[in-house]
Amino acid sequence: MEKSQGKRENWGSRFGFLMAAAGSAVGLGNIWRFPYMTGKNGGGAFILIYAVFALVIGLSIMVAEFAIGRRTSLAAVGAYKKYSKNWTFAGVLGVLSAFFIMGFYPVVGGWSLAYIFKSVTGLLADQGAIEGIFGSFISASGEPIIWMAIYLFINVFIVAKGVAGGIEKASSILMPTLFVLFIFIAIRSVTLPGAGAGLEFIFKPDFSEVTGSTFLAALGQAFFSLSLGMGCMMTYGSYLNKEENLPNNALLVTLMDTSVALLSGIAIFPALFAFGMEPAQGPGLVFVVVPSLFAQMGTLGPLFSVVFFIALTVAALTSSVSLLEVVVAYLMDERQMPRKKSVSIAGGIMVITGMLSSLSMGALSGVSIFGVGFFDFFDILTDKIFLAIGGLLLAVFVGWFVNKEDLKDELTNSGTVSFGLFEVWYGVVKYVIPVAIAIVAVMGIMAIEQTSLMIFGVGLIVLLAAISKKL
Ligand code: PFF
Repeated sequence: MEKSQGKRENWGSRFGFLMAAAGSAVGLGNIWRFPYMTGKNGGGAFILIYAVFALVIGLSIMVAEFAIGRRTSLAAVGAYKKYSKNWTFAGVLGVLSAFFIMGFYPVVGGWSLAYIFKSVTGLLADQGAIEGIFGSFISASGEPIIWMAIYLFINVFIVAKGVAGGIEKASSILMPTLFVLFIFIAIRSVTLPGAGAGLEFIFKPDFSEVTGSTFLAALGQAFFSLSLGMGCMMTYGSYLNKEENLPNNALLVTLMDTSVALLSGIAIFPALFAFGMEPAQGPGLVFVVVPSLFAQMGTLGPLFSVVFFIALTVAALTSSVSLLEVVVAYLMDERQMPRKKSVSIAGGIMVITGMLSSLSMGALSGVSIFGVGFFDFFDILTDKIFLAIGGLLLAVFVGWFVNKEDLKDELTNSGTVSFGLFEVWYGVVKYVIPVAIAIVAVMGIMAIEQTSLMIFGVGLIVLLAAISKKL
């Protein structure tokens, strides 16, 4: 495999790339999804399994994605295809994952956007009413859809401006802001009376409730949170210049992402226990617990709440633009469409899938596909099936089908930087990850309730593989 020499948009600076990659990783996955998955899966034990998956499997996969992306200077589909047409389907699976995640992500992004405004219009007036307000807001047929559409429009606008111009600039300013804010919220939460029970919940692992589905949930969460298993980091790597140290960048992004997830656990659970709320309440967690925390702060509450939801919206945006970018890069690279046209087409379809997801919280709650509503359909299909399989395919591809010397050349910038752990990384990718994911997938799939959805998901992947040469 020759190095690609073509002219391609590049990141403006190292900091810009790092912020964009960390921006993609840090998002609703850390702040909205991680706490509620932790709550649902019993707390500390889930966090521990998650952290091991993120730091061993996730980090190694990220290094691999950066390497393949930069080596080929192509987004996921093109990158796989450049090696072998038989592998094109793995890239297409990634594009499909991005598309499906964008089926629900803008809905939650829209909630967050709405909460910026609700923070100053009475949301915090009565702490006891916060949960009810959330429930009736998300199940309405008009308001959440409008917010979802506005949120999606902002994505379209940023991605239409291109990688370095839009994505990079937005991330560089807003990511650091988010981090500082979160530290502040976490301090407030752990100093509440009764907060100790929450810290115990997240730091004292109880393995008695751990099952196969806990492992699958933790693996899916690690992939989702680190933006892996779907070619996103490959696409970002393809815009990266040849001087950057790939393993170092991957390590930094992984550490940042994992620390924001932990920080959000530390921000949410102590407050949740202090308020006597239910940890397993699901997707509403952050939208109920955090406002309750702010409601107690008196006149400063609304101000903090506004800043928090601005930060959450921004964290969500820097992630969803990367998802949209995966779809857009595919249309540009493989279907020869100009950027603006690609963005409009993708955005147009996503408005419809977003509407279906949003309505599945209310008017369409009776409609089920493969046993679940639209929102859960998009979520479970990607998080529990596609990303893990996408990661497995990538590991097998890199470990068994890409020339080892080429990988070494790419990861050491042709020998100019050192990557002392190369052999360890290579062994993990080649042997450990395929076996580990296969075990977790089988265990998880056996324990999962949505059998028909699983069969549908796996069937779709097999179908893609079967028609791979035509893709
Ligand atoms: N990592 C993002 C988050 O945690 O919110 C979500 C995401 C972005 C997943 C990009 C996958 C992806 F390719």
